[in-house]
Amino acid sequence: QQIAAPQRSTSVKVAAVAQMEDFTVNSVPTQPIEGQKTGTSGLRKKTKVFMGDNYLANWIQSLFNALGEEAQGKTIGLGGDGRYFNKEAVQIILRLAAGNGVSKVVVGKDAIMATPAMSALIRRRGLYGGLIMSASHNPGGPEEDWGIKFNYSSGEPAPEKITDKIYGFTQSISELKMADIPEVDLSKVGTTQFGSFEVEVVDYTAEYFATLKEVFDFPALKAFMTRADFSFVFDALHAVTGAYAGPLFVDELGAKADSIHNGTPLPDFGGGHPDPNLTYAHDLVELMWSDKAPVFGAASDGDGDRNMVLGSHFFVTPSDSVAIIAASAQAAIPYFKGGLKGVARSMPTSGALDRVAQKMGLPFYETPTGWKFFGNLMDADQCSICGEESFGTGADHVREKDGLWAVLAWLSILAYKNKDVPEGGKFVSVKDIVMDHWKQFGRNVYSRYDYEGVESEAANKMIAHLESVIASSKKGDKFGEYTLETADNFAYTDPIDGSVAKNQGIRFVFQDGSRIIFRLSGTGSAGATIRLYIEAYTADEAAFEKDAQEVLKSIIGTALEVSKLQEFTGRDKPTVIT
Ligand code: G6P
Ligand code: ZN
Repeated sequence: QQIAAPQRSTSVKVAAVAQMEDFTVNSVPTQPIEGQKTGTSGLRKKTKVFMGDNYLANWIQSLFNALGEEAQGKTIGLGGDGRYFNKEAVQIILRLAAGNGVSKVVVGKDAIMATPAMSALIRRRGLYGGLIMSASHNPGGPEEDWGIKFNYSSGEPAPEKITDKIYGFTQSISELKMADIPEVDLSKVGTTQFGSFEVEVVDYTAEYFATLKEVFDFPALKAFMTRADFSFVFDALHAVTGAYAGPLFVDELGAKADSIHNGTPLPDFGGGHPDPNLTYAHDLVELMWSDKAPVFGAASDGDGDRNMVLGSHFFVTPSDSVAIIAASAQAAIPYFKGGLKGVARSMPTSGALDRVAQKMGLPFYETPTGWKFFGNLMDADQCSICGEESFGTGADHVREKDGLWAVLAWLSILAYKNKDVPEGGKFVSVKDIVMDHWKQFGRNVYSRYDYEGVESEAANKMIAHLESVIASSKKGDKFGEYTLETADNFAYTDPIDGSVAKNQGIRFVFQDGSRIIFRLSGTGSAGATIRLYIEAYTADEAAFEKDAQEVLKSIIGTALEVSKLQEFTGRDKPTVIT
């Protein structure tokens, strides 16, 4: 059965367009598929599930149903992190976009587009939105994960009012509107026209790098990176930033070609887990603790929004990283030379940023976990820099966290701190910068324990138990060595739109600023993941050289005792410690 193509397409003959071809739109019958519930990180499932009959097409059609007339005649972006199935998925999405009246799709060459690059593309080109094919830091390949997410007009992940609507349509869908356009060659930059539907294959670095150049001083960075006493390694973990790292660090900033490790994006990320942390970026970690360690090392995740920053024999926690970037931004990064509008962190992220905000007299916001909460603040010009303990750092140049931005921010800080140090002089290292910061602000010693794959019922019981502990606690109560200031289940009222997010994590805040926090992960795929975040504040310089686990031993003991975690879950140790 054929249905009429959307108004502006088949019937309109555009004589001036080269390669013009008409297309018809076929109505393909389909049925709802269960479980296509979309969160703000989009829909993530096993790749094989997405490759099943109409699985992806149903979700994309539901997206267009949800957007309705608003998307007709508009231009959207499309790209992904290079994982298995992305290239096939592009062709399905293009046929549905044409069939649903979208007038143009801007696709990254080879189907590549990092998440922050998509955000930049949407913002710079004023696109209606963009689709990102990624399951972020989850492994890729036929046996692993695939994902898709829609970002809206200011480059931010689609809000719940859209994702809820998409889910609604996935439950009642009966028809796919598929245009019968031929496959588009993604290997060449250029425009192809099908009637009045257009596909533009673009250089995926162009808009993103243009944005980064507005933020950073590229000539100054190049001068710094080519110093003889500086050395650098970036590990792309065979994920999307591999496609950007060479053009950025080598071609633009003069780094040596061999400073990019695992720089070819692979469909299965080389069999690895593209998550930049001390566990999964093990090759980089090994190098940074070897006698061949460069001055600076960094890594990013599958889709390029997370980052990890390392110095020689030194790990910068994400919580310290955002605090240090905020403290130095005005001096070290041109984009911030007029000062910061404000700063924000998610609730479980350490209080290091709070101390910077206080000292600098900056507006400060504590939001629930999830990047989306920063977007409103940024759109309202209330926040310039923000970060999360989960290896996310970013700013208001885009509306996603941005891995390469974080690396360039650190390079800028290193360049600034060494600007008066002659080559061969006393180079200010990553560790020196962090130690200086702690001397000024104190150290928020921090660690996160993850208990993955816990039975959901057990996890819920533990949270209920903690709720009862909160209810019966009061200021001044003793918890081990610590004296309670407040205990609550974190709730957040968005200062911009007044929306309220409740039950965002159990927190015990002590009088010296130390904290114990419990949350259930919102991104896990099997059972429940309990996250325990522990933070102890110290201004004692003797503690600065100590390992976090050593400093936190007693407060962790207190946390396990208060929560009865072992009793509820049967776990005597976490699955991951970061
Ligand atoms: C994703 C989100 C982040 C969030 C992280 C951890 O990366 O974009 O905003 O902090 O997941 O979330 P979780 O609920 O698993 O702790
Ligand atoms: Zn990611």
